[in-house]
Amino acid sequence: MQAILLSTLVAAVLAQLGNAAECPLPSSDAKAFSAKNFDYIIVGANALLLTILLRIAEAQPHCQVGVLEAGVFHRDDPLVDTPGELSLFSTRNGGLTWGNRTYDWAYVTTPQAGLNNTVIATPRGKMLGGSSGLNLMAWTRASQAEYDAFDKFAPGHGWTFKDLLPFLKKVENVDKQSNPFPGISSAALSNAVQTGPLFAGSAGPVNVSLNTFMSGDVFPWVQSHNALGVSTNVDPEDGNTAGVRNLQVAVNRATGNRSYVGYYCESVGRSNIHHLVGAQVTKVNLVKKGSLVTATGVQFLSAGKTFTAKAAIEVVLSAGVVNSPQLLELSGIGNSKLLKKLGIQTMIDLPGVGENLQEHIYSILEWQLKPGIQTFDEIRNNATFLQQQAVQYQKHHDGVFASTDSAVSYLPLQTFLNASAVAAQAKAIKKGLPELGPLTKLQKKQYSIQSSLILQGVPQVEVIQLSKGLIVPQPNVSYMSVLVGHQKPLARGSIHINTTNATAPPVINGNYLNNDFDVQTILQGLKFALKLASTPPVSHSVAALISPPPGLTDAQLISYIRATGSTGSHIMGTAAMAAKSDGGVVNGQLKVYGTKNLRVVDTSVIPLQLATHSQHTVFAIAEKAATMIVAANPAG
Ligand SMILES: Cc1cc2nc3c(=O)[nH]c(=O)nc-3n(C[C@H](O)[C@H](O)[C@H](O)COP(=O)(O)OP(=O)(O)OC[C@H]3O[C@@H](n4cnc5c(N)ncnc54)[C@H](O)[C@@H]3O)c2cc1C
Ligand SMILES: *[C@@H]1O[C@H](CO)[C@@H](O)[C@H](O)[C@H]1NC(C)=O
Ligand SMILES: *[C@@H]1O[C@H](CO)[C@@H](O)[C@H](O)[C@H]1NC(C)=O
Ligand SMILES: *[C@@H]1O[C@H](CO)[C@@H](O)[C@H](O)[C@H]1NC(C)=O
Ligand SMILES: *[C@@H]1O[C@H](CO)[C@@H](O)[C@H](O)[C@H]1NC(C)=O
Ligand SMILES: *[C@@H]1O[C@H](CO)[C@@H](O)[C@H](O)[C@H]1NC(C)=O
Ligand SMILES: *[C@@H]1O[C@H](CO)[C@@H](O)[C@H](O)[C@H]1NC(C)=O
Ligand SMILES: *[C@@H]1O[C@H](CO)[C@@H](O)[C@H](O)[C@H]1NC(C)=O
Ligand SMILES: *[C@@H]1O[C@H](CO)[C@@H](O)[C@H](O)[C@H]1NC(C)=O
Ligand SMILES: *[C@@H]1O[C@H](CO)[C@@H](O)[C@H](O)[C@H]1NC(C)=O
Repeated sequence: MQAILLSTLVAAVLAQLGNAAECPLPSSDAKAFSAKNFDYIIVGANALLLTILLRIAEAQPHCQVGVLEAGVFHRDDPLVDTPGELSLFSTRNGGLTWGNRTYDWAYVTTPQAGLNNTVIATPRGKMLGGSSGLNLMAWTRASQAEYDAFDKFAPGHGWTFKDLLPFLKKVENVDKQSNPFPGISSAALSNAVQTGPLFAGSAGPVNVSLNTFMSGDVFPWVQSHNALGVSTNVDPEDGNTAGVRNLQVAVNRATGNRSYVGYYCESVGRSNIHHLVGAQVTKVNLVKKGSLVTATGVQFLSAGKTFTAKAAIEVVLSAGVVNSPQLLELSGIGNSKLLKKLGIQTMIDLPGVGENLQEHIYSILEWQLKPGIQTFDEIRNNATFLQQQAVQYQKHHDGVFASTDSAVSYLPLQTFLNASAVAAQAKAIKKGLPELGPLTKLQKKQYSIQSSLILQGVPQVEVIQLSKGLIVPQPNVSYMSVLVGHQKPLARGSIHINTTNATAPPVINGNYLNNDFDVQTILQGLKFALKLASTPPVSHSVAALISPPPGLTDAQLISYIRATGSTGSHIMGTAAMAAKSDGGVVNGQLKVYGTKNLRVVDTSVIPLQLATHSQHTVFAIAEKAATMIVAANPAG
């Protein structure tokens, strides 16, 4: 109730803030779009797909490129543009756009046995810019060892950290402001500024920056990390992600807005690029020619009517981790048994489609803070402050409304366990836990890699500090909340259609927390977070632990984790890049096995979960895919 009142109030304040818009709106004329002869068709206008579009259009100006997006461009919409609206989010209710079908596909999982049979909300952006238009804007990379592991699933195609680094840099424009953060001395800072250009991009379309507003509990929290031996990571984008950091976010500091449609704005004026919004693709049209299947175009719905669009060279699916596997199955690419049951003609029997889902599961903790510590709760508690910050945002584009949370740490198992316990854990994983049943070939390969990443000290747990009350915030009280998430789970889930109705949601089953390792890892992280909060200096700011209730045993904490766990919205792997014989869906060129000209380029192709927020990696994958697509079709 209170959250609704507050969001109305904030929305009213923000509604006064409109500025001149820069990018024109895309077309929704399906008939005109359908009449064109495209060379390339791209399905889903997520931010990364727009990359490909732009690169192809630049490299092959004589080619016509069409992109279809089910949602619309939410231009000049403060609920999308203004970072601070997310300071009101709560993990189970989400940001102001989450669950709202104007912006979100609003998927849910099947009841999850490991999460006390709860149905877990699975938001996915439905708009130009995709999920980057409703995500939390964290802009992070995984560690070097993880990208190097990526490469092991498709050797010889250049997926190591070294190979991906130019693409990771190409997409970003990092704002090099000073980094006043505990543990970052001026010497360390100047060293990071020197090494910065090696790792940070400076000309890409995504503006990346550090928050300008910091709550009063941020620095003490970082210092308590340091007191427990977790050091501040000065340059967490250099391939070593461990430690506590000042989080980078995709926010343009000149405007104070979310940065997510840069590629669109760059591409929209070009004569060989054609955008169509409000168009939901329902099928990829395929024909069998010899041993390979060729994609000739797509079928789509616009305002209730069915249309087709033709592609002479390639079709690229970037409909996201939920909809790309759905579209493959609707088009006859998937497990033939499932397709047969639904009466769909099998074009390619590819049982890996929709399998291998991996997700980060988070547990939440919350403390009440002592009076006088300023957090995001202040905009809920103090109308004068709210008004003052709104004016600040309008005039200077900074302050609370231009900011999100800043203190994030990535911790290896070695933070919680001694060397022999870590070794025992790594060994058990390699062998396969009994509750996981017989392992697939892909799982065997993954668990062997996961085991070695554990021994190498690659982070397994993320701890995110959120300076606000999320559970039941009381008036005039400030809170510190913390999310503790397992980054490299063993659980494997799936996304499959259960109907030929293309507008019905697919069935998402994560099998979350279906094994002891996943539960124990969150438990270790949760206990470490409790220890952090009782370690000075942050302990001086804390008045009381609210959730979980104090004094629980390990068994009770596990019930708490199962009862309150939520997802990080970093689902990956549902059209994995891996050998076909291992259950892969795409090869090292991201081409769907058995097809001549159909690729998947989105989070679905990542074969093994990364200990990071996913968007930066996916943008880099898109940049790499663009070079592969242009190289594969030299004449265009
Ligand atoms: C709530 C939330 C919070 C997140 N927080 C972060 C964060 O802070 N930092 C981070 O790095 N990552 C975050 N992520 C993840 C990140 O946003 C995604 O990994 C990234 O956007 C890529 O997702 P995707 O590949 O699933 O594609 P999406 O970005 O979801 O894009 C898919 C696009 O395809 C369109 N589409 C789907 N089906 C069809 C169809 N049939 N026809 C036409 N168009 C279609 C969709 O509307 C959408 O525009 C978050 C994600 C969510 C949902
Ligand atoms: C920033 O966001 C506001 C609110 O949606 C919008 O009016 C403004 O045009 C945006 N600025 C730019 C440069 O896009
Ligand atoms: C969903 O978003 C639209 C557009 O911003 C808004 O008008 C509507 O009130 C929202 N619905 C809910 C339930 O919040
Ligand atoms: C945002 O990125 C664009 C494109 O790289 C750049 O022109 C602009 O200056 C950047 N803004 C800031 C504040 O760095
Ligand atoms: C409310 O915010 C205003 C403006 O920042 C500040 O001057 C005032 O002290 C705050 N009130 C309380 C009770 O904290
Ligand atoms: C390591 O930790 C385990 C489990 O916590 C404990 O049983 C064991 O005694 C410890 N070993 C050493 C060498 O400290
Ligand atoms: C919150 O504090 C302010 C200032 O001290 C006071 O005026 C207001 O009544 C308080 N509100 C509630 C709900 O306690
Ligand atoms: C397809 O599914 C959608 C969404 O669930 C539903 O509204 C629609 O009625 C269904 N169409 C048919 C033909 O069953
Ligand atoms: C598909 O699964 C959903 C549950 O995820 C269920 O509600 C729906 O009835 C199923 N549809 C069909 C056609 O089986
Ligand atoms: C699990 O769910 C059941 C049914 O909704 C509920 O009664 C129970 O309290 C939940 N368990 C916990 C630990 O919250």
